[in-house]
Amino acid sequence: MMEGVNYLQVCERAANLGSSSSRNALDGIRSVMDGSREFFEMEYLCSDAKGGARWFRMAVTSLRRSGGAVVSHRDITERKLAEQRVRDLSGRLIHGQEEERRRIARELHDDVNQKLALLAIELEQFAQATPESTGEIQQRARDLCGLAQGISSDVHQLSHKLHPSKLDHLGLIEAARDFCMAISQHHGIHVDFFHRDVPERIPGEISLCIFRIIQESLQNVVKHSGAKQAYVGLLGHSDEIHLEVSDPGAGFDVESDKGKAGLGLVSMRERVRFAGGEMWIRSRRSQGTRIDVKMPLRAPALKKAPMTILIDN
Ligand SMILES: Nc1ncnc2c1ncn2[C@@H]1O[C@H](COP(=O)(O)OP(=O)(O)OP(=O)(O)O)[C@@H](O)[C@H]1O
Ligand SMILES: [Mg+2]
Repeated sequence: MMEGVNYLQVCERAANLGSSSSRNALDGIRSVMDGSREFFEMEYLCSDAKGGARWFRMAVTSLRRSGGAVVSHRDITERKLAEQRVRDLSGRLIHGQEEERRRIARELHDDVNQKLALLAIELEQFAQATPESTGEIQQRARDLCGLAQGISSDVHQLSHKLHPSKLDHLGLIEAARDFCMAISQHHGIHVDFFHRDVPERIPGEISLCIFRIIQESLQNVVKHSGAKQAYVGLLGHSDEIHLEVSDPGAGFDVESDKGKAGLGLVSMRERVRFAGGEMWIRSRRSQGTRIDVKMPLRAPALKKAPMTILIDN
């Protein structure tokens, strides 16, 4: 701290040297002092004497009568570190959950399903080998064969739900198109799927993240919107992908519904944050819902947790 130096000048000097947080602080303090706002707060990162870094929260409150302002700084490093630990943990949980789903899907597909298919074949052969005179037994064997085939197809579907193997084999576009078609067929909602300039090679974690968001968003359209149509758009840009999922249905109040018990939107946010992307949910009652996601095209590092930045009222 420099005693006897005008605080605004200190910020100005730092801002002129290219510090964006000093520029924001300066603009914030000035806006409180010239009366265009009552209060300003922001969080910023600052290097300390030992070469480390600490987080601070700056609050600027107007002194209405004198025309000045009170500026306070609080060290919030511990809180920031705790938030980062939670983010790391949720990133790891999502990663672990996907790994587990992939393992169970593979087991169901390669092991349980093969055994069920074998059982169905054996029952069919048994029915064929049974003399016609034992009609009842023959019919029973045929029924059991049908049952085994039904279970086998359920297990097959379940394994694809747990982990969309199409995503690994055919890529994001085909897997997304397939899912949109399945929603159209099974739920009577026309899903319009559009894509442009999406690169063929996308890191697996990124395409899985985008696919899961499409899945959850369309499931929400089915469950909550009452809409008969929806739109899914994927646009590739130089180093990121933009996803839009929208419907013209019932909509909801994003702020007041935040505390609702559902896990879908929460896990979407966590996935996007973990992958280093951004997500916006816009919705209004009776006017539909639109979800936009910007996703970088590089795979997330497991330890990475972006620390952001500014609260600007
Ligand atoms: N497309 C949509 N149209 C209308 N309301 C929606 C839409 N998407 C989400 N909502 C509202 O947001 C709430 C939260 O959605 P979220 O996906 O988090 O939970 P859920 O679908 O209720 O449960 P879960 O996803 O855990 O099965 C929903 O209960 C619903 O009220
Ligand atoms: Mg949901």
